[in-house]
Amino acid sequence: MSESSRELHVDLGDRSYPIIIGQGLLGRQDLSVFVPGERVLIVTNETLAPLYLDRVAGNFPGKQVDHVILPDGERFKNWETLNLVFDALLEQRHTRKTTLVALGGGVIGDMTGFAAASYQRGVNFIQIPTTLLSQVDSSVGGKTGINHPRGKNMIGAFHQPQAVMIDTDTLSTLPENELAAGLAEVIKYGLIRDIEFLEWLERTIDRLNGKDDELLAEAIYRSCECKADVVAVDEREGGLRAILNLGHTFGHAIETHTGYGSWLHGEAVGTGMLMAADLSMRSGYITADDVARTRQLLERAKLPLIPPSGMTPDHFMELMAVDKKNVDGALRLVLLESLGEAVVTSSFRTENLHETLAHFCH
Ligand code: NAD
Ligand code: GLY
Repeated sequence: MSESSRELHVDLGDRSYPIIIGQGLLGRQDLSVFVPGERVLIVTNETLAPLYLDRVAGNFPGKQVDHVILPDGERFKNWETLNLVFDALLEQRHTRKTTLVALGGGVIGDMTGFAAASYQRGVNFIQIPTTLLSQVDSSVGGKTGINHPRGKNMIGAFHQPQAVMIDTDTLSTLPENELAAGLAEVIKYGLIRDIEFLEWLERTIDRLNGKDDELLAEAIYRSCECKADVVAVDEREGGLRAILNLGHTFGHAIETHTGYGSWLHGEAVGTGMLMAADLSMRSGYITADDVARTRQLLERAKLPLIPPSGMTPDHFMELMAVDKKNVDGALRLVLLESLGEAVVTSSFRTENLHETLAHFCH
């Protein structure tokens, strides 16, 4: 392991795996120990291949390393693009002993994980996330999948990786709006489970925006720690894990409405978290000051605070009706009982939800 790296573990019995976080890991950290066979297929996209593909090949000494380069974008997180991975695996005669490697953000991670879950009924895979969002959220926990035109992430599988390797140096090339999108998920952990972390974020957010290396590494470590804890308790989202979806029901509605891609996932989640905070206040949980504090932090993280213009309460209601958390037709939402504490509930008043939607739609 590199001297400047730290390690966390996702404890899931025989499916446990490490999260290795550090600077300069690309091309250096030996990941061949996580590869049972002789072959690796790196899945990446047109943006990341010229930046990092050659270096990542150096993480697998002694292995035969192939690659497939996919088009870049949320709108390509679909069957057609997924098939390009299966085409490459079959054309190059990869067996069930192969290991897939996801080199990219959450789109590449989710699609590669789903390909690994289903190729020859399941092969190993490794996550090398390169966006802040994928480093703090999507690469950990084994949710994989693709979008359907009628709903975000509606087709997929749970499939845990063998390892997650986070090289924080990759953030140096990440565009500003993508950094903000990742900060939304970082803020989420503070809001749902850790008031001290939330206060730390309030003190450091401006330096995080400025890509302070040390603070970003700390934010990634603490976010992964929170996610690993939650996933270890409830891998398949029978209960607790649903709190990780704070803001996502509103956010997924925004993403589906806008057709995947014009709003970044993290941006939609940021706005969604503020809407969830507003509904939490109307439901009698948190105070107007708490909502203002949430708004301020999201604003300082440079996240959008209102849904796209033209999106109506009816649009929200229709799209939220297909959310995966819903049970027997009842809408379930993640609300804040206090800052640092979340609850998944269907016991909120429909009038309050309508008030929140009316307040935010313009
Ligand atoms: P993304 O994968 O689309 O990446 C964002 C953009 O940044 C892309 O254009 C990408 O090519 C580029 N990029 C990535 N790394 C870069 C780097 N280091 N330098 C320069 N450019 C870089 O988006 P994302 O925000 O990483 O992920 C969003 C996706 O993750 C959504 O599809 C969402 O549903 C999914 N997600 C999944 C989970 C889960 O638990 N599986 C959790 C959260 C989000
Ligand atoms: N991002 C939500 C989850 O992993 O459960």
